[in-house]
Amino acid sequence: MDSFEWLNGYTVGYGFYHVDFTDPNKPRTPKLSAHFYFQLMKDNGFPITEDEKMLYGEFPQGFLWSSATAAYQIEGGWRADGKSLSIWDKFAHTPLKIFNSDNGDIACDSYNKIDEDIAILKQLGVNHYRFSISWTRVLPDGTTNHINEVGFRYYDRLVNALLAANIQPHITLYHWDLPQALQNVGGWENDTIVQRFRDYADVMFSRLGDRVKLWVTINEPYNVAMIGHGYGVAAPGISFRPGTLPYIVAHNLIKAHAEAWHLYNDKYRGRQNGKVSITINSDWSEPRNPYKQEDIDAARRIMQFYIGWFAHPIFNGDYSEMMKTIIRERSLAAGLTKSRLPEFTPEEIKRIKGTHDYFGFNHYTTVLAFPVDYGNLQHYDADRGAGTYVDRTWLDSGSGWLKVTPFGLRRILNFIKEEYGNPTIIITENGVSERGPTDLKDSHRSYYYEKYINQVLKAYRLDNVDVRGYTAWSLMDNLEWATGFSERFGLFYVNRSDPNVPRVAKESVSFFSTIINCNGFPDPASGPHDCLKPIPEGNSTSAPENDNSVNFLGLRLSPEEAETGLNTTFALLLVAATGAICFRCRKKMSNSDKLTTC
Ligand code: BGC
Repeated sequence: MDSFEWLNGYTVGYGFYHVDFTDPNKPRTPKLSAHFYFQLMKDNGFPITEDEKMLYGEFPQGFLWSSATAAYQIEGGWRADGKSLSIWDKFAHTPLKIFNSDNGDIACDSYNKIDEDIAILKQLGVNHYRFSISWTRVLPDGTTNHINEVGFRYYDRLVNALLAANIQPHITLYHWDLPQALQNVGGWENDTIVQRFRDYADVMFSRLGDRVKLWVTINEPYNVAMIGHGYGVAAPGISFRPGTLPYIVAHNLIKAHAEAWHLYNDKYRGRQNGKVSITINSDWSEPRNPYKQEDIDAARRIMQFYIGWFAHPIFNGDYSEMMKTIIRERSLAAGLTKSRLPEFTPEEIKRIKGTHDYFGFNHYTTVLAFPVDYGNLQHYDADRGAGTYVDRTWLDSGSGWLKVTPFGLRRILNFIKEEYGNPTIIITENGVSERGPTDLKDSHRSYYYEKYINQVLKAYRLDNVDVRGYTAWSLMDNLEWATGFSERFGLFYVNRSDPNVPRVAKESVSFFSTIINCNGFPDPASGPHDCLKPIPEGNSTSAPENDNSVNFLGLRLSPEEAETGLNTTFALLLVAATGAICFRCRKKMSNSDKLTTC
């Protein structure tokens, strides 16, 4: 226990137990280290935990295996063929908003590279591809006054090419690139956006719904509301009303989603028979000290203010009591006449509840929570009343906010099951980044996918979570929003200094495609397993009959790609020889938007 520490008196505590020397009873309180040491003695060492043990087994038949991208991050063609500007075009062209002044003007040039993108999807062996539509490519001023047929044709061709390759399209209508014309009239703050979004959805359902059976209305509404309109480090970059604007924006996002879902339900479902939902993102939040009630409560608040902000109205009906009570009380205490959290009318609550055909879920990492009292501050963070930090032993990635914490995925899948009525879940994003010199040997990514996907298998097989799909973020290195091209999440490396912008497989491609090929993790004890053998050339799940790919460094590549790969490898050797480059990056989210040295 803490005790008299010689010359330091009672100021330094070496104890497992904190002793309150000001209390005449000298009460002892165990610190987290006491619990840790207790567990260590009980286990007589460091046995491999349940979390870490591999589970062997398969996913259900028909499991959805996918990889994802988003329009602004990959397409380029920012002014091609009548496309007009989105809030991300504007944000990226505003000085100091994006690391290294990067922008999506060209990005991965996917607007001109349908064949190349299809080729790498085939190489991966996925049966689905999740991508988003650039609203301004189809509706330049955001409204249906003018439909840009040339822009639309890009998506029409992409969908047809995917289907020809036996890959099902999974389309996101809104992945953050709002038409600037709509931002000019208030964007997501103006509730006319609900009708605008519905009109846009109508165009897309009517034109592509005969062939597209899976839709996401809005990607990560939390990020739109908080990162774009609270912290302001994503477009449209507003940060001066963090106690009100994110809540108003979120309110309109939820209504817009619900209207698009009803539109599909009423007008298209009968003949198109597809599924429409929203993709909600969330970290998993653990209490800093699992034995301390204040930390447990802080972790719960983080969940209700993050995933619950959107999932509660859509799956359970209305905002959670916790959010409503806390924000109302803090608003009134600050002298406001009503809550800063907008209210849904009883009709709206009913209309929004149940607007889902599956739970689209994006997940990357876990945080540790503890309570923070921000006094009177009128800010989302203060309403939440919690801070977060990470365990120093967790593995790093190329993104400051992303620590490798596979256990959190199984826990949050169980949380979704318990909290939102056991919905069918499709994981619509999960992945890891790197930074620094390009290295095709991305063993950290294979490790991440193996461990995270294995947690999904545990959730499915051991916990009966109804998870039906897994989507790797991302198919290729792309514009990682405010951090530009410095953080790379791709399974494929994109050589942007070559005018042909070639895609080259990293090693994780063959690793991930083997998991897909086996539909899980076959037990070595019952092997050998055919699915573990290198996939014969021209014979991946969705490879064409006449695939003439060649083997390059153990990867299946087209002859042109192999040539590019060879050149790239040579170039990388040169880069490696000239030494590492140091970057500064802008943190995406979490507690603050401070610049961090990476
Ligand atoms: C987004 C992606 C992003 C990824 C990695 C998600 O928040 O949907 O667009 O690139 O996470 O940060």
